[in-house]
Amino acid sequence: MSSAAVLQIVSVVGNPRAESRTHGLARALAAALVDVADADGGRSATTAEVDLAGLGPKILDWADADAEAATDRVLGADLLIVASPTYKATYSGLLKAFLDRIGGGALGGTPAIGVLLGGAADHRLAVDVHLTPLLLELGAAIPVRGLFVLEADAEAFPTTAGAWAAAHGPALLGR
Ligand SMILES: Cc1cc2nc3c(=O)[nH]c(=O)nc-3n(C[C@H](O)[C@H](O)[C@H](O)COP(=O)(O)O)c2cc1C
Repeated sequence: MSSAAVLQIVSVVGNPRAESRTHGLARALAAALVDVADADGGRSATTAEVDLAGLGPKILDWADADAEAATDRVLGADLLIVASPTYKATYSGLLKAFLDRIGGGALGGTPAIGVLLGGAADHRLAVDVHLTPLLLELGAAIPVRGLFVLEADAEAFPTTAGAWAAAHGPALLGR
């Protein structure tokens, strides 16, 4: 976690394809949370992204400098958005391989929100049943339940993200 005046919101995107809808979802959520942070007159916020598609096989190389820089970016976040497509009723293997680089408890209480984009409504609990426990193991604090978005609703998300952030942003931002 950083002690800088500006809060760092870091999004990790676990889609093997770059610039995916999952990435769009994370980006919309981060922007909406910046608006909430700016609106309430507290610490203002800025965003950074770790799109794992760009790292690809480097994630499996524990000596790789780019993967290490991505890990450090996550460890330095003040608020984490961890987004993945729903794969096999859980999250992508790419995301798991990246998060395996982070030590147990290493997030040290950084607030985080898990986000899954999925095709099947009956997998909506996957975010809290599978992704949230992984984030807790890494030491994240989870102040609000995870967000599952149906791919059929993905296009509308940039307009609904504001309402979600207004309802849950203050808890995530510690306000
Ligand atoms: C390998 C694979 C497995 C999938 N498994 C599931 C699943 O178990 N449950 C579900 O709701 N959607 C599943 N889907 C659908 C994806 O979650 C959905 O299309 C994805 O979130 C779209 O995200 P994207 O546009 O960012 O790629 C799967 C898709 C793929 C390619």
